[in-house]
Amino acid sequence: MADLTLRNVKKAYGSLNILHGIDLDIESGEFIVFVGPSGCGKSTLLRSIAGLEEITSGDLSIDGERVNDVPPSKRGIAMVFQSYALYPHMTVYDNMAFSMKIAKENKAEIDKRVKQAAEILQLTKYLDRLPKAMSGGQRQRVAIGRAIVRNPKVFLFDEPLSNLDAALRVATRIEIAKLKESMPNTTMIYVTHDQVEAMTLADRIVVLKEGRIEQVGSPMELYKRPGNLFVAQFIGSPAMNILPGKVDKAGSNTAITHIGGKASVPIATPASAQGTEISFGVRPEDLYVAKGKDSLFEGKVDYIEQLGEVQLVYVDIGRGIELPLIAKLPGNVPIERGATMKLDASAEDLHIFDANGSSFLQHKPEAKAA
Ligand SMILES: Nc1ncnc2c1ncn2[C@@H]1O[C@H](COP(=O)(O)OP(=O)(O)OP(=O)(O)O)[C@@H](O)[C@H]1O
Ligand SMILES: [Mg+2]
Repeated sequence: MADLTLRNVKKAYGSLNILHGIDLDIESGEFIVFVGPSGCGKSTLLRSIAGLEEITSGDLSIDGERVNDVPPSKRGIAMVFQSYALYPHMTVYDNMAFSMKIAKENKAEIDKRVKQAAEILQLTKYLDRLPKAMSGGQRQRVAIGRAIVRNPKVFLFDEPLSNLDAALRVATRIEIAKLKESMPNTTMIYVTHDQVEAMTLADRIVVLKEGRIEQVGSPMELYKRPGNLFVAQFIGSPAMNILPGKVDKAGSNTAITHIGGKASVPIATPASAQGTEISFGVRPEDLYVAKGKDSLFEGKVDYIEQLGEVQLVYVDIGRGIELPLIAKLPGNVPIERGATMKLDASAEDLHIFDANGSSFLQHKPEAKAA
């Protein structure tokens, strides 16, 4: 069991500031996923938690104890990296036992823990093999096993699956989900670029951008109620469509004009939002072919990517908008390139963001003037 607290954690390399004051509370047994664009500081944050990087300022606590100055080996943390670097001349068993042997644990204990880990990871029948006689996915499982035997309180993963091919990724992702189930008290922090891994594995996702936290929440919270434009476009694939617009009537049901027409959005906006420019968002999968005469959008089908189960339809809605609107529609709907298409979405699937990119859902209602 271990909870983690990060308070105003900063990291700089020389004069280069990388992490700008991270505040985060992680509960014991949680599965936390860090996502964000390349270079935003995910690995740096993970390595700082592990103690492989010294933080420049701030406090890092594990179970209430400040560990800023505690060496990595004493933090009760194990880390699994993208490149698994097993010892090629050692069997799977010896690879997994290595750190315990170095720590001079007794033989019976080593044997027990290696066999337990092998069981969890379905590696029992490979214990005598050398790494070269195993697949990439199996080798990555050995690397995870090496970490499990250390009986960590906190497990850190830095893109552990990104060297694997698509099918193996799926299989190993499920192994990791099961691993978490078998270790309910172990806190896990997992870095990934993969949307599916983030959505399926996380209890909570932390979205990072340029060394700052943009939003923390459950996968569905981030998907349904992104706090700002960045999170809205980062979570979900293809990304949320964003169009310019204007608030016609502020209030509990905000009326807006957007580039395709008008909409009434069931999101409260303060009176001060009246007449302001906004960004209007709708996810590709929330659009559907309009049934009636009136529709949210109308345009010409510019391009279609048929993926079988779904098709991505690029609709040119004109009016100076260069980016096409992308609609994710069922694959079996007949659609022709060049045809006129009307698209709609339910009011509750619409998003509006203020001029700073913050979602109006996050706005506090304004105090009424007396
Ligand atoms: N030892 C170092 N010295 C100087 N700058 C560094 C060092 N290590 C990392 N950086 C910089 O810190 C920033 C964050 O790097 P980091 O590896 O944490 O990013 P990341 O989010 O893990 O990216 P990726 O998704 O590509 O792995 C980058 O701009 C990187 O160039
Ligand atoms: Mg990284």
